[in-house]
Amino acid sequence: MSHTPVLLQEILAGLNLRSGQTIVDCTFGGGGHAAALARQVRQVLAFDRDPNAPNYAADILAANPNIKLVPDNFSRLAEYIIAPVDGFVFDLGVSSFHLDLPERGFSWRQDCALDMRMDTRQALTAEKIVNQYAEKELADIIYNYGEEKYSRRIAKNILAARQKNKITTSAQLKEIILRSVSGNYTAKNISLARVFQALRIAVNDELNILAGALTQAADLLKTGGRLAVISFHSLEDRIVKNVFRDLQQKNILTLLAKKPLRPSAVEIQNNPRARSAKLRLGEKK
Ligand SMILES: C[S@@+](CC[C@H](N)C(=O)[O-])C[C@H]1O[C@@H](n2cnc3c(N)ncnc32)[C@H](O)[C@@H]1O
Repeated sequence: MSHTPVLLQEILAGLNLRSGQTIVDCTFGGGGHAAALARQVRQVLAFDRDPNAPNYAADILAANPNIKLVPDNFSRLAEYIIAPVDGFVFDLGVSSFHLDLPERGFSWRQDCALDMRMDTRQALTAEKIVNQYAEKELADIIYNYGEEKYSRRIAKNILAARQKNKITTSAQLKEIILRSVSGNYTAKNISLARVFQALRIAVNDELNILAGALTQAADLLKTGGRLAVISFHSLEDRIVKNVFRDLQQKNILTLLAKKPLRPSAVEIQNNPRARSAKLRLGEKK
């Protein structure tokens, strides 16, 4: 099992790399971007909130001693980085390890426990949200983080189901979602993906920490340093776009392109998970 790095050539070109540099990879994952960066620069400082990341990428870490991996949240960049650095990469969201390993509990395609924690040291799981949150809170999560129009009906049916039996597996949740939504097979699958995305975002508090982390990164860049951010859905990209515009207005960042870069048709064919990726690049003034 592995994670294929998305928009890799675009990231390498977009960071304007030189041999003596230090680049920070805020989302190490399977180490694909970090390994390619490590071949071109002096040092890669990497972050991943998932304490299992070093196991998933043991080969890459062994082969690239100039990668230093910190098992912490990128919301705490400023606690680790003292001197300004040459570049930051954020490749947001979950890795293929999260999606494909049933024990991580992210998938609706295979039956698994409802976990969805990137950081397995945290207490909040998807199971807790599904079984303990009030109906309105659940509906709001599904609507705000999944943009799912049947959010209220799904939340109502979750409440009814959990009064009978605790909801502990993705198969139980999938069954509740499928009978809450209307439409053909494709529309129902989109609803499933949306609800699972919403829960994942809530479990990992993905959106609330993003703007602060990007602002910290911009602060920690040298003049001429680059910030590269790959997002995978519109809620994420909206935040990235707004932060970049804000930093441009404050005269901190130059935007390197108005429109985000997208993967080529060939990349999407080889790696369907790249299909919704958008890369935004900025340079520190
Ligand atoms: C899309 S994967 C990155 C894949 C990586 N670029 C590669 O080439 O293998 C995203 C990774 O970022 C991590 N992550 C997501 N949010 C994070 C956060 N706030 N702090 C630290 N790591 C985070 C996840 O645990 C996941 O491993």
